[in-house]
Amino acid sequence: MQTQTLQIAYQIYPSLEALPDADRTLLEQARRALENSYSPYSHFKVGAAVRFANGEMLGGANYENAAYPMCICAEQAVLAAAASRFPGEPITAIAITVQNPHKPVAAPAAPCGACRQVISETEQRNLCPMRVILQGETGPVFVFEKGSDLLPLSFGGDFLG
Ligand code: THU
Repeated sequence: MQTQTLQIAYQIYPSLEALPDADRTLLEQARRALENSYSPYSHFKVGAAVRFANGEMLGGANYENAAYPMCICAEQAVLAAAASRFPGEPITAIAITVQNPHKPVAAPAAPCGACRQVISETEQRNLCPMRVILQGETGPVFVFEKGSDLLPLSFGGDFLG
């Protein structure tokens, strides 16, 4: 028997203003994207924005449905849009932010498990690490160097080949 220990390193910035320029710009884009959230059921707005290797950015927001399981998370909305609009263009970073009208979120909201899976597969497909930048409505910002940091031991297409 062996014990394996996993460690994940990430950076903590005290505020949006403290971020490097490229990360701050992307997080601001995610915050703008959040305004397009369609969330009449949860009232929980999520905005995500991706940066491509060519420097372009694209934003997306969560998109709910009265048939609740059909709700689409912001991360999945933007990653699917990115693959459709700019096929083959690697994504170097994703920023995610949230807004809850019932309770201001002052801590970074981490992507759900399903979104981590999609981030992880996009990363494997693009052969490019995706920086993950997380902030609540206010407060500190967490930065992970790659999406797989958020989903160690992930399931992937390799298992199916
Ligand atoms: N949501 C996201 O957009 N991303 C996540 O990672 C977690 C949850 C959305 C789905 C739903 O519209 C709302 O937040 C509440 O769960």
